[in-house]
Amino acid sequence: MKILVTGGAGFIGSNFAHYYADKYPDRDILILDKLTYAGNLDNLTKLMDNPHFKFVRGDIADKEFIESFFETEKPDHVVNFAAETHVDRSITEPSIFVMTNIVGTHNLLEASKDFGVKRYHQVSTDEVYGDLGTDSKDYFTEKTPIAPNCPYAASKASADLLVRSYFETYQMPATISRCSNNYGPYQFPEKLIPYFFRLISEDKPVPVYGDGKNVRDWLFVLDHCRAIDAVLERGCLGDTYNVGGNNERTNLEITQTLLDFLGRDESLIAFVDDRLAHDRRYAIDSSKLQRELGWSPSVDFREGIAKTFDWYESHKEWAEKLMDKLEERQHKVISRDPQKPSRV
Ligand SMILES: NC(=O)c1ccc[n+]([C@@H]2O[C@H](COP(=O)([O-])OP(=O)(O)OC[C@H]3O[C@@H](n4cnc5c(N)ncnc54)[C@H](O)[C@@H]3O)[C@@H](O)[C@H]2O)c1
Repeated sequence: MKILVTGGAGFIGSNFAHYYADKYPDRDILILDKLTYAGNLDNLTKLMDNPHFKFVRGDIADKEFIESFFETEKPDHVVNFAAETHVDRSITEPSIFVMTNIVGTHNLLEASKDFGVKRYHQVSTDEVYGDLGTDSKDYFTEKTPIAPNCPYAASKASADLLVRSYFETYQMPATISRCSNNYGPYQFPEKLIPYFFRLISEDKPVPVYGDGKNVRDWLFVLDHCRAIDAVLERGCLGDTYNVGGNNERTNLEITQTLLDFLGRDESLIAFVDDRLAHDRRYAIDSSKLQRELGWSPSVDFREGIAKTFDWYESHKEWAEKLMDKLEERQHKVISRDPQKPSRV
């Protein structure tokens, strides 16, 4: 059995590759990744000597490449993590989100259809559902209409619709999962939890968007990997499964938890202008996944935060290397057009 993991050098994809190699030591794992600023081969170091593991650098948006890649590699299962994922970047550079998240997914679906893939899984996000608003007590279920509000969410929703259409039209053996915010090892250091950990450790102000009352559900990354595995192994073809941690928190609460964890007070909080189209509340109902596939979150938030902090403490070089790469990119973008602010 050979599984193709696209985007496997990123945050969740690399966690999934490690999880999968441990759980299924006899299965072949093939990773395809473009290695954008978010992809990092260092995330896969531990797997490089595994005889069942192979890495290929490539772009899912390149149709010809994807066709010949599937013809050569003939994967049995495909799980698509590859995506542009940074919401702020989708507001300044939406076209790359259309290319990777929509065109790229379409290329994978076409190749999966043509080369007889037995299972295709699309890793999606709760952001496709839009905004619940602060006053509502509702949760997103799999029946909630999709109503994306930013280009990132719209590109992920479009990809989901393509997956659905391939199931309905061509009986593609496909599934979709939509997860809430993840945190844990290997997350790019510019993302909220690792970024705030670093600032707080250095006694620097932590920038909180708007009034800090935007609510998100947070899940430890390993629990997301377990959920995807359950859907790949036992999920009903054509179905969508919501994945969440029953762990709703405002951004301000997250910041307070991190300050508290590191023994600092709230004087480090600095409120900054809100981001455009910043949805107020996401909350996800994952009861279908729990009921039908027996999954439930296994890591509680405090425990997950402690594990994450320990991991970043013991991987400082890993994070510094990535931040240098990001700065290099920022310089390039700024020097191309000095009038414009950094687009990263
Ligand atoms: N991070 C979260 O909290 C979260 C929550 C729910 C769903 N998701 C979804 O999970 C998936 C993985 O998210 P992540 O946080 O690990 O993202 P990430 O940005 O850390 O990783 C994305 C990976 O995709 C690769 N990639 C980008 N464009 C590519 C292309 N054209 N061809 C091949 N590879 C390409 C990158 O190099 C990178 O390794 C995404 O589809 C995302 O929408 C993420």
